[in-house]
Amino acid sequence: MAAAGGRFRMAAVAWVVLFLGAVWAVDRSNFKTCDQSSFCKRQRNTKAGSSPYRALLDSLQLSQDSMKIQLVNEANKVPLLLELYGLKGNMTRIRINELNPLKPRYEVPDVLIGDPPTTRLSVMGRDDNSVELSLGEGTHKLILTAKPFRMDLLEGRELVLSVNSRGLLVFEHLRLKKDSFSDKVSSTVVSMWDRIKNLFSRAPSKEPATEEEGAAEASDASLPTEQESTESEKTEEASKGADEAEEEPGSWEETFKTHTDSKPNGPTSVGLDFSLPGVENVYGIPEHADNLRLRTTEGGDPYRLYNLDVFQYELYNPMALYGSVPVLLAHNTQRTMGIFWLNAAETWVDITSNTAGKTLFGKMLDYMQGGGETPQTDVRWMSESGIVDVFLLLGPSPKDIFRQYASLTGTQALPPLFSLGYHQSRWNYNDEEDVNAVDNGFDEHDIPYDVIWLDIEHADGKRYFTWDPNKFPHPREMLQRLAAKRRQMVSIVDPHIKVDSGYRVHNEIRSRNFYVKTKDGNDYEGWCWPGSAGYPDFTNPEMRAWWSSMFAYDQYEGSMENLYTWNDMNEPSVFNGPEVTMHKDAVHQGGWEHRDIHNLYGFYVQMATALGQVQRSGGVERPFVLTRAFFAGSQRYGAVWTGDNAAEWDHLKISIPMCLSLGLVGISFCGADVGGFFKNPEPELLVRWYQVGAYQPFFRAHAHVDTTRREPWLFGEDNEALIRDAIRQRYALLPFWYTAFYHSYRTGEPVMRPLWVEYPQDVTTFSIDDQYLLGDALLVHPVTAQGARGVQVYLPGKGEVWYDVHTHQKLHAPQTLYLTVTMSSIPVYQRGGSIVARKERVRRSSDCMQNDPYTLYVALGPQGTAKGDLYVDDGHTYNFETKGQYLHRRFSFSGNTLTASSADPKGSYETSAWIERVVILGAGKPAAVFLKQAGVAETRLDFTHEAETSVLTLRKPAVNIGADWSISLR
Ligand code: NOJ
Repeated sequence: MAAAGGRFRMAAVAWVVLFLGAVWAVDRSNFKTCDQSSFCKRQRNTKAGSSPYRALLDSLQLSQDSMKIQLVNEANKVPLLLELYGLKGNMTRIRINELNPLKPRYEVPDVLIGDPPTTRLSVMGRDDNSVELSLGEGTHKLILTAKPFRMDLLEGRELVLSVNSRGLLVFEHLRLKKDSFSDKVSSTVVSMWDRIKNLFSRAPSKEPATEEEGAAEASDASLPTEQESTESEKTEEASKGADEAEEEPGSWEETFKTHTDSKPNGPTSVGLDFSLPGVENVYGIPEHADNLRLRTTEGGDPYRLYNLDVFQYELYNPMALYGSVPVLLAHNTQRTMGIFWLNAAETWVDITSNTAGKTLFGKMLDYMQGGGETPQTDVRWMSESGIVDVFLLLGPSPKDIFRQYASLTGTQALPPLFSLGYHQSRWNYNDEEDVNAVDNGFDEHDIPYDVIWLDIEHADGKRYFTWDPNKFPHPREMLQRLAAKRRQMVSIVDPHIKVDSGYRVHNEIRSRNFYVKTKDGNDYEGWCWPGSAGYPDFTNPEMRAWWSSMFAYDQYEGSMENLYTWNDMNEPSVFNGPEVTMHKDAVHQGGWEHRDIHNLYGFYVQMATALGQVQRSGGVERPFVLTRAFFAGSQRYGAVWTGDNAAEWDHLKISIPMCLSLGLVGISFCGADVGGFFKNPEPELLVRWYQVGAYQPFFRAHAHVDTTRREPWLFGEDNEALIRDAIRQRYALLPFWYTAFYHSYRTGEPVMRPLWVEYPQDVTTFSIDDQYLLGDALLVHPVTAQGARGVQVYLPGKGEVWYDVHTHQKLHAPQTLYLTVTMSSIPVYQRGGSIVARKERVRRSSDCMQNDPYTLYVALGPQGTAKGDLYVDDGHTYNFETKGQYLHRRFSFSGNTLTASSADPKGSYETSAWIERVVILGAGKPAAVFLKQAGVAETRLDFTHEAETSVLTLRKPAVNIGADWSISLR
């Protein structure tokens, strides 16, 4: 209690200091550096050199779909088993585990959407020290060298990636602690394992097991888990571990600040290096508040992946943040590759490069003198436990990588349409009157919005799934009022559950034995918003099923169809825990330590919540769940945001690379708190943030409880008008956003993407992260600097043209142009050759726009052609999947004719929405324009043409959006 009280006081003091204008800085001492994380230090202390590992070529086994071979560490003789799979779609999977571990090591479940289909492997050749395998559809080969062990992957004759070429495979095998070795080895270890496992198979409500039952259980569980291995083999290997030289401090127990991690399994880390010849640009491994293009980590800490609630996070550094996606992309003009390191434990990633620090001139000089080495990036992954399970995504194009990764972990869930609208949040909207007033405010000020959010104060004493009886006595009436305006609400449901015997949720979780346990087998308790709290074990499928059931309308009292969910603090945040999170020696279902599963906790929370929402509607409605913590695969369950940023210009700026990095690894539905969470934004910053947010996938304003109110109309008429305009721009583009999300759902391609994804050979784009593309049609370069008078915009694409969406001015590419800006400027360009659909009538919410007519913006490319598409469905159900109720329309312009046809005949959907206007950018003036529909006589269309801008506007084609037609300019 004292500790938590301390933390609350510290937090309060910190916030006061912050509001008085003190320097923004994370308290670094709360978070470990690599040196303070004993496994990271040990791994990093292994220097590149020749690997102690040797592959035993005689042990090689080739089956239909895999190659297995033993690796032995020549220093301690502990054998590992390496499995190699060629996967369909140009991927390779490498798994390395101990051949005979003392007990099972954690293998990440539930992240992959299925068993990845394999391809045939064949041995092409071998000699005394190597084997050559053909991989994939014959496109790649892999040379495995036995001593020192390494693997080289080639495409044709080109080396594209090497594994362990720097000899940094470090696999800390399970072992017995030296001083306990004299004990009866196998029985001690196995029975400890049983004891932990049994914590979870016993529900308190169950009668205590009889002696016989107990004995039977114990003998069952002590069966060897690895079929080939016997207990004596395990004992023998354990002795090897124990016989090794002095264990390093921190191997069996680690202390950080006031916390001691008991490490009952001792050192268990795994690490491996990958070399990428020809690569100078690497991306991904979110979440970090850093540039899009990752830096080298020599001389500093590696990038850390460990889901943490970092108070006042700092920018431009590799510290861990709320979520982790262990996927790195490597790119050069020739190819794009990906490395997906499937491990949920604390992970650090070192990046080194032989060209780091060299100036462009230096590199050119090397090149001219012919003496320069090939540029190369080396990536080293280090995880605290689990196994090595790594997928090499071989591209070769960026879009191949997205498809490959999506085939493993799934694609972005198609969000309900409303969730792409604007969200109004703060900590907190105080009561029902407040909610009504804010809601009405949007109507009074003619600003569209879709969702109002309730933070933790709405619940009764931070007891989630309840309502404060004084402030929110009539939640259903409140929700009904919103529903009548076709708007939604989101309430927060955090995963820490107040320990309170009067709280039903707590009682049920406790009685079902669903809480995470301490190492001693008690319910784990930590401090969070409600005071003392338990943490449901979301890794347990039964717990998740129960949690999901809590979203049923009769369980979550006061909830309704238009109430959705926000999962916050799910790293999990534990105020009095080590690094503000859960103790690593806490125990989950199956006896796994929190250490093994940490980065998965938040993923599971969102999964169970999203499923609950689906179930409450009988499987009909799509969910909306925002999460702060995430992992690979989280894209399947909803949206993420970048957590507690601040009302500072740099925070506005970094929201772009942070969301771009997430998009690259499958998570498209990303946003940052508009306005900045901490501190009070000056009006200029607030306006600019709305302008940026309107063009990012998840668009929500949110603010800390201590900030002054900042609804859009509180900053004077001029600012209100600017904010209104930004939000309206968002709404006009909703058809485009929805279509972009549909593509992401189908293919895994990011909605918001770096320029290099579309221009993979243009080196200028490789480090750009102050502008980006939405889909493949819009280029956005938001203003993120205070007092900006202009921005430098890079328009890519040799021979391409771009159109300023506001002025319709045509610009030739490639070029870097200086665009003068005013406070109303949001620089956005439409790519010549694209067609974008908009809805331009102003409404209260996205739902009110459902049947509104469309305007098509046809931006002619240099050849006078263009194409685009539009996805339409009911916006909220799964009928598009289950009943084929959708329209996917294709538009194409060539030979002076614009045609509309179906892009997917499998879908059909009835809508009264029609096309009210077609705007053709870059068009000459026709003599006449004709509309043709099957079975109907050709009709003439009215049009206007602006000679100065070459904009041709066709008035009222009045064709249904689902109809086939053509319009010809003559
Ligand atoms: C932390 C979240 O990041 C923030 O958005 C929220 O307002 C507070 N928790 C209170 O729930």
